[in-house]
Amino acid sequence: MTRRQAIQAGLAFSATALATPRAARASLAALPEARAVAAGPSLHRRREKLDLGWRFHLGDADDAAADFGLGRNQESFAKATGAVRAGRANFDDSQWNEIELPHDWAVDLPFIEDPELVAHGSKPLGRKYPATSIGWYRRVFQLPAEDGGQRLRLDFDGVFRHAMVFFNNAFLGESFSGYAPFGFDLTDLANPGGENVLVVRADATLGEGWFYEGAGIYRHVWITRTPPLHFEHDGVAVRSELRGRAARVTVAATVMNESDAPAPVRLSVAIGDTRVRSPQGEIAAWSTAELTAVAEIPNPERWSPEHPHLYQANCSLEGPIGGDAVAIPFGIRSLRFDPDQGFFLNDQRVELQGTCNHQDHAGVGAALPDRLQSYRIERLQAMGSNAYRTSHNPPTPELLDACDRLGMLVMDETRMMASTPEGLSQLERLIRRDRNHPSVILWSLGNEEPLQGTEAGGRIIASMKRLANRLDPTRPVTLAMNGGWGRGASLAVDVQGFNYGNGGGSAQTAPHIDDFHRRFPRQPSFGSETASAVSTRGIYATDKTRGYVSAYDVNFPSYALNAEGWWKIFARRKFLAGGFAWTGFDYRGEPSPYGWPCISSHFGILDTCGFAKDSFYYYQAWWTGKPVLHLFPHWNWAGREGQPIEVWCHTNLEEVELLLNGRSLGTQRVEPQGHLQWQVPYAPGVLEARGGGLSARRETTGPAAALALIPDRTTLRADGEDLSVVAVEVRDAAGRLVPTASNLVRFSLDGPGRIVGVGNGDPSSHEPDHALQRSAFNGLAMALVQSRRSGGTIRITAAADGIRGATATIMAS
Ligand code: GAL
Repeated sequence: MTRRQAIQAGLAFSATALATPRAARASLAALPEARAVAAGPSLHRRREKLDLGWRFHLGDADDAAADFGLGRNQESFAKATGAVRAGRANFDDSQWNEIELPHDWAVDLPFIEDPELVAHGSKPLGRKYPATSIGWYRRVFQLPAEDGGQRLRLDFDGVFRHAMVFFNNAFLGESFSGYAPFGFDLTDLANPGGENVLVVRADATLGEGWFYEGAGIYRHVWITRTPPLHFEHDGVAVRSELRGRAARVTVAATVMNESDAPAPVRLSVAIGDTRVRSPQGEIAAWSTAELTAVAEIPNPERWSPEHPHLYQANCSLEGPIGGDAVAIPFGIRSLRFDPDQGFFLNDQRVELQGTCNHQDHAGVGAALPDRLQSYRIERLQAMGSNAYRTSHNPPTPELLDACDRLGMLVMDETRMMASTPEGLSQLERLIRRDRNHPSVILWSLGNEEPLQGTEAGGRIIASMKRLANRLDPTRPVTLAMNGGWGRGASLAVDVQGFNYGNGGGSAQTAPHIDDFHRRFPRQPSFGSETASAVSTRGIYATDKTRGYVSAYDVNFPSYALNAEGWWKIFARRKFLAGGFAWTGFDYRGEPSPYGWPCISSHFGILDTCGFAKDSFYYYQAWWTGKPVLHLFPHWNWAGREGQPIEVWCHTNLEEVELLLNGRSLGTQRVEPQGHLQWQVPYAPGVLEARGGGLSARRETTGPAAALALIPDRTTLRADGEDLSVVAVEVRDAAGRLVPTASNLVRFSLDGPGRIVGVGNGDPSSHEPDHALQRSAFNGLAMALVQSRRSGGTIRITAAADGIRGATATIMAS
């Protein structure tokens, strides 16, 4: 096929008038110079992060004076401008803290023992805590004079929670959800060539979940300038369809003409060397139109977890009044769910080896620097996971960027199962934003909703699905259901999600799942949420007082299962497309099975820092092809000499021999998806597992003698955002990790970097995240080191009383 033959193009118009007053439209249409005003070489799209230079102050939900005057009388919104004092240009914010986004003010609040705060990770947010539940943000900035002829737009990736936004002291609007993106047109109110004041009041009094949700502007904020003829925000959909050895890529763009003259226009799309242009059409003044161009890519590289190849569609608008342009990364791949065989990517069966995750991390709460998103995905991939569920809400877009780049399949979830205007609007914003990400394979319309098994639930899901199909006909929809299977919403979804459904903890039986499959043999299904096993890293005896659960894979709530239990069910049922374990990482809040002093969950396969618990190796054994031999617990049991210690091995080798101080304790064969177990009378020394030419050793260590620092990356971009996750190990004189060490580690830093948070994965630690010190928890701690905007050598030093310190060097350029 020649390239010429390979190129097809089309153009469709469905013009819609924009909401501009009729009179304005008429008078502007009469101005012949409008076209000239809109034209010009300086008009092009520019998208900038608005993360720097903010000031922050807590407000007060119960006290108007402490809430910067908001609501001091009835007239708060009597006029379109002037509702808030902080919105005035001359407002004195010198007493407000200087902060950068992303920002989660809950991280700096104290931990408080109050059963009502358990979900919040014991941070004082809610009706009882009005003085710590409101946050005010203020940003003063110049807009260049050239912005005059442009359209200006402000976008928030997510603010927790109810946000009121004021710009140049006018009320711009508000956002209900703490997770859905939202934005506003700034053009009419902007002051190009002068000062502009942006104010956000975020109200975290009410929550949307039962887990830690953070507080404030915890994701990025963007300003986008476009020419008056421009692509609508999130208005370009790039869809690919594999046809034999070629891919057909359809680019469908909603284009807005926000000028006073009709705009002749073509959509031009370049993908590598392939270029397609639509025929020329015309969009009336203040109207939108749909433009479509179709390209054929011969022998495309297909996107997959093993080969996450990304293409870029460079889309531009060509016409006499000047062109907007956007570059959209996308992937070429096919997907389908099959009722008998599970999930297929590019016509190959792929088992979803997934985890559900919330979005907070040690050190930073919900305000993750972008690099941490990649770090978390890399950690999950290291245990063989290929799928990620954004439970229970829209993720930040940088998470999906990381999943696209690194090859992680995503079940993308909206927060509100509702066909109300708010529910549909949240879903629409999610799908329009995320539909070009090849990693996204499934839209999840909700989780464990009371209406799931009812007729009303069925109608709601049907309405949501209609919207999802209209915005993105390429992906199926699901609902994470923990009951009502076969009724209500179940009848409306494309793929049936099972949350648990294993009949109450008896391993290898899955009565609900099997029964559903018998009754609905044409319905594809998968485990939308499984496991909920609980464990604390490095703990081998459950200790309720301290809030620790043993890390043997034996603890789980009655509705749930351990790692081995659920994976045996799923690995042995080919009709299931795999599943998503609850959870990849520990998260703040929901410290089940305990309350205080616990402030974070035990569900993670990794702790809040990303340190592996022992179950990590169970998954690694059965989710990767590489030989795994992991022996636990540690071998420091002074005082328990002669007493039996339970010894486990997570391995995928055929058989394993266990030895204590060189003496064989026997060889055991490994059952598929199983583990090995021994009772070993304790004697200090060396416990060793041998198999397949591998050896795993646990040695009784000496006391803590030194620290070691292990940065996950030693070169950073000097952009003020890049980050290294620096692990701290407490070691003995022979260099072995001391698995029970809890030394207080003090950090200092030299050079163009900063420590933005510390952690240790201890679910009961009440030490602050924003600090220059942290106790080790079972031998480990962590510091997050971020670059600044200048290059150089960053030297991070860790010290602890009575033992040798350590220094690590990170280059920023
Ligand atoms: C599920 C729920 C999750 C989490 C989990 C704990 O029912 O969907 O959000 O609460 O239980 O086991």
